[in-house]
Amino acid sequence: GAPVEVDIGGLQPGEKMTVEWRGKPVWILKRSPAQVAELAKLDGQLADPQSKRNPDEFTPEYARNGARSIKPEVLVVVGICTHLGCSPIDKLQAGPQPSLPDDWHGGFLCPCHGSTFDLAGRVFKNKPAPDNLPVPPHMYLSDTRLLIG
Ligand code: FES
Repeated sequence: GAPVEVDIGGLQPGEKMTVEWRGKPVWILKRSPAQVAELAKLDGQLADPQSKRNPDEFTPEYARNGARSIKPEVLVVVGICTHLGCSPIDKLQAGPQPSLPDDWHGGFLCPCHGSTFDLAGRVFKNKPAPDNLPVPPHMYLSDTRLLIG
């Protein structure tokens, strides 16, 4: 499929947009500085905090860092659970969940079998999903224009 060009100039901190690439939903999330700072604190709770598993499949070289991104504030991931392919939902959509610890700050919950992911798409430990959400190939054409694919 063709690469997809996206203008992210209007995205506010905390906002997420979804674009379609190769028939898959790609999420673009603008993280606030506080959300970026939170990422480093979660490493101990994550299955693969440095995205070392299957890096060629899930994390391009330029995203093999703590934020899994080119720019710390902008996350670009494929919104499909690495377990059996359901669509994870945002913490806000999920609402209170008896199965989640009170200190879960989000980002994403897979409603099918309860895998949880942080705001870098990294899967928490002891969840059915084996891998972090895939980061698709992408690059910046300018400060606010992204090319996915
Ligand atoms: Fe997401 Fe099973 S498909 S946890």
